[in-house]
Amino acid sequence: MCGIVGYVGQREASEVLLEGLRRLEYRGYDSAGVSILNGTGLQLRKAVGRLANLERELAATPLHGHVGIGHTRWATHGAPSVRNSHPHLSYDGKLSIIHNGIIENYRELKNELLAQGVKFESDTDTEVVAHLVERAYQGDLLKALAEVLPRLRGAYALALLHQDEPGRVLATRLGSPLVLGVGENENFIASDVPALLKYTRRVVFPEEGQICEISREGVRIFSPDLKLLPAAIQTTELTLDAAEKEGFEHFMLKEIHEQPRAIAETLRGRLNEGAIDLTELALDPALINGLRRVAIIACGTSLYASMVGKYLMERFTHLPTETWSASEFRYADPVINAQTLVISVSQSGETADTLEAVKLAKASGATTISVCNVMGSSIARISAATLYTRAGPEIGVASTKAYVTQLAAFALLAVGLGRMLGTTSQQQEARIVDGLMHIPGQVKALLDKDIVAVKRCAKRYKDVFNFMYIGRHFNYPTAMEGALKLKEISYIHAEGYAGGEMKHGPLALVEGTFPTIAIAPQGGTREKLLSNVQEIRARSGVVVLVATEGDAEAAELADYLIEIPACAEELSPILAIVPLQLLAYYTATQLGRDVDKPRNLAKSVTVE
Ligand code: G6P
Repeated sequence: MCGIVGYVGQREASEVLLEGLRRLEYRGYDSAGVSILNGTGLQLRKAVGRLANLERELAATPLHGHVGIGHTRWATHGAPSVRNSHPHLSYDGKLSIIHNGIIENYRELKNELLAQGVKFESDTDTEVVAHLVERAYQGDLLKALAEVLPRLRGAYALALLHQDEPGRVLATRLGSPLVLGVGENENFIASDVPALLKYTRRVVFPEEGQICEISREGVRIFSPDLKLLPAAIQTTELTLDAAEKEGFEHFMLKEIHEQPRAIAETLRGRLNEGAIDLTELALDPALINGLRRVAIIACGTSLYASMVGKYLMERFTHLPTETWSASEFRYADPVINAQTLVISVSQSGETADTLEAVKLAKASGATTISVCNVMGSSIARISAATLYTRAGPEIGVASTKAYVTQLAAFALLAVGLGRMLGTTSQQQEARIVDGLMHIPGQVKALLDKDIVAVKRCAKRYKDVFNFMYIGRHFNYPTAMEGALKLKEISYIHAEGYAGGEMKHGPLALVEGTFPTIAIAPQGGTREKLLSNVQEIRARSGVVVLVATEGDAEAAELADYLIEIPACAEELSPILAIVPLQLLAYYTATQLGRDVDKPRNLAKSVTVE
């Protein structure tokens, strides 16, 4: 949440900052602001709402200068307003700062500053850092920052600019993402790589606690006690094209259509002559054979992928597996030890709760594997091994291609581990490998045919207040994820339920105009779910049925029939979610919602 950018070079800093913020707007869009340093000192422009408002402001009253920082905000402390927008200034107006994260002990620090007579201009936690650093400042911003950092508790990526040191921008991170971009006579900082791609693909990922300096001359990295460290420059594989809409009306629709390619990327090099190849994880067979339990931790959509992961792990590894919402895991008393495998799942690899949960698991001696999309992300870096999903940048706030690739990754992981443990036979492995090889083509076929029922249903039911989604076993998480997609982008209340639980309460909701989306592809629970559908129909409920192609019984029961290709039941969640993503998308567009940036949400939740 919140995006930060910084620039030092020869271009107009405001243009570079706006370009960066455009790429980071997915991180928050409550307000935006920039501060630029030029001959007349620090200049600020801020605007509430979308970045377009700041762009208008800058067009009307431009700022010139070659050094600056910029921010797009997802409000935590203080309502979205100009005074709470970043950058924030120190009491003497000489220092400006931007922040992604939360300073947890800001009250205590604020009280201390108030007692010293410092006046505050905003309600934010960030402003305390501006004042603290300025009070510590004695002609060297680096020293002042290093002195203040040990006093801050929480998570942050910070960038600072000082009027008396016009040639450099400093930045640091703890628990929030930060990347440096290395150019020719110009250098950059940002929360995420896409903000840099127009200018450079050479990047440095600083470690937690390090302090970074960018100037025209280069980038320098310091340890917390200000020892100069070597900067490990890498070249990112991401390209600007991947971060564009490519003719689609929304990123979400583009990303839905990218799913066949994304899944093929997840599988690339990992299916080898009928077998699953996990050698890249360098897993120690003795350690794997010593495992007694698995805990999977994640948030949001990644949590629903984890629920499918649990069923896959139990089927193929026979290890008792539990799924945890990362924010719950941290505050419960999870029983984790050296015989536990902790799998974390995160598209961004930066979700604060998931990151902290992995740290906790590591501290308890667990073996940690992460399933991540973003290379070099914090979670990937602290995990013992990472299975990258390789879905490419996902910009739409509602996750789509990241989800299906996480499901494919879980199939690889569960069957691969099952083979190591001897709990999965060669035949079982061959069946899943064969199924996986067909999945990208099957998703493509699904996307290529215009699913008429989806569009009809979106049109007919866009104005109802409630939707129910039901599924069983492998597709119970599909029901949860389908409901999440609808509520996050259309703002219609939707609930995902286990089909068998309907008669324990939700059936009371069913009447003539109440739509239930039932997910009943071929597999062990199809018949049971069709019985639940009968119960709904008997009460005049409307049923949208997702079933396997050619299922005549399902066709008869459905008010709206959505057919998916036949596949192994373990892989059916990958196919079944696709029409539900489209249903959410078309419902939201019919309602005129901002599909890629739904209200109150952000893509990367780097606050707890
Ligand atoms: C936010 C996003 C979701 C995502 C969740 C977890 O809520 O809007 O799309 O599923 O965070 O993010 P992660 O990056 O850890 O998968």
